[in-house]
Amino acid sequence: MRVLVTGASSGIGRAVCERLLADGHRTIGLARDFGKFPGEDRRFEAHPIDLADLDRLPTQLQNLVAAHPALDALVLNAGVGRFGTLEQFSYGQIRALIDLNLTSHVFVARAFLPTLKKAGRGHLVFIGSEAALAGTAQGSLYCAAKFALRGFAQALRAECARTGVRVTLVNPGMVQSPFFDELDFRPGPAPDNHILPADVAAVIVQALTMRAGTVLDEINLSPQKKVIDFGQKSSGDGQSRV
Ligand SMILES: NC(=O)c1ccc[n+]([C@@H]2O[C@H](COP(=O)([O-])OP(=O)(O)OC[C@H]3O[C@@H](n4cnc5c(N)ncnc54)[C@H](OP(=O)(O)O)[C@@H]3O)[C@@H](O)[C@H]2O)c1
Repeated sequence: MRVLVTGASSGIGRAVCERLLADGHRTIGLARDFGKFPGEDRRFEAHPIDLADLDRLPTQLQNLVAAHPALDALVLNAGVGRFGTLEQFSYGQIRALIDLNLTSHVFVARAFLPTLKKAGRGHLVFIGSEAALAGTAQGSLYCAAKFALRGFAQALRAECARTGVRVTLVNPGMVQSPFFDELDFRPGPAPDNHILPADVAAVIVQALTMRAGTVLDEINLSPQKKVIDFGQKSSGDGQSRV
C-alpha cells in the first residue's frame, strides 16, 4: 500500500507510519517538524508542511496529488488539543484550532478525492476522538471540531459508497502521546489508564486491510479505566476531554 499520514511526526501519526513501514508499505508523512522522527526507512517520505496555513495549503496539496496520483489510503490525523472556557480563547485562537483540527482535513480530502474516485478505490481514515461523541466542559472548541469531523466523515462515507472509496472514523479516548505536553492534564500512568499510539495504529491497519467491499465505519476505543491526572490530583470520574 501507499499511505499518506498527516501529523506523522509524533504520537498516533508516527505510530501509524512505523507500523505501516514495518509491514512493508510506502508511507508519506506530513507535519511541520520531522526533527523528532528520524524516519530513515527508504520507503518513508517526509513533507514538512503547516496544515493550519490554509492560504498555502491548496497549492501544496495540488503538488502532493501530482507527485502521488496512486495512493491507497490517507490517515487524516494531525491535530492539537486546546482546552478552556470559551471566553479564554481569542478570536485568532478559535480560528487556528478549527483551521487545523477541522478545515485542514476537509482540504486534504478535497484534494485527493478526485483521483481516488477515478481509481474506484481508496480509503480515508479520520482520527476523531471521544470528544466527537459527547461535549464536555472546557472542550467546546475541540469538541466542535471533532463533532464536525464526525459529521463530515459520515456524509463523505455515504457520498463515496458507490465509488469504491471507503471512509472510516476512529475515536480514541486518552492516548499517551505528546498531545498532553502543553496541557494541565494527562491520562493516568497505569497501563490500563491510557491507550498507546501503537494500539490506535493497529486498529487503523486493521481497517485498511479489511476485504475490499467492507468498511469499518466508526471505531471507538478507550482505556479500560478512565483516570485523568491533573498533576497533584487524579480523577477517576471518567470525564475525559479528548
Ligand atoms: N492523545 C489523545 O489522547 C488523543 C485522543 C483522541 C484523539 N486524539 C487525536 O489524535 C490526533 C493525533 O494526536 P496525538 O495524540 O498523536 O498528538 P501529538 O503527538 O501531539 O501529534 C500531533 C501531530 O499533529 C501534527 N501537527 C500539529 N499541528 C500541525 C500543523 N499546524 N501542521 C501540520 N501538522 C501539525 C504534529 O506535528 P508537528 O508538531 O511536527 O507539526 C504531530 O505530528 C489529533 O487529531 C488528536 O486530536 C488524540
